[in-house]
Amino acid sequence: MSEIDERHPVITPRRVRFDWAGTPLHWIPDEPVATHFVNVLHLLLPAGERWFVHVYKQTLPLVEDDERLHRKVRGFMGQEAVHAYLAVSPAARAAGRT
Ligand SMILES: [Fe+2]
Repeated sequence: MSEIDERHPVITPRRVRFDWAGTPLHWIPDEPVATHFVNVLHLLLPAGERWFVHVYKQTLPLVEDDERLHRKVRGFMGQEAVHAYLAVSPAARAAGRT
């Protein structure tokens, strides 16, 4: 059983929403190249986030004897699932292209 370390609390995934309606196409001010570079990263990130969920799901049976670690793994999986959903560029969301 792992020790309780309050510096690293169990993650509680939250469904967050952002209003992208007023987001300009180049949402990094005066940096169109940086904006599109980060936009491309946001297109790639969901695959990694989903991969985290896939891999950690396979570890759950291995940590059933440690309730706190099990909760931490599940919390991390939830967080990454939310990230996978949210990791789409603000400009694409603002333009209704998601
Ligand atoms: Fe993430």
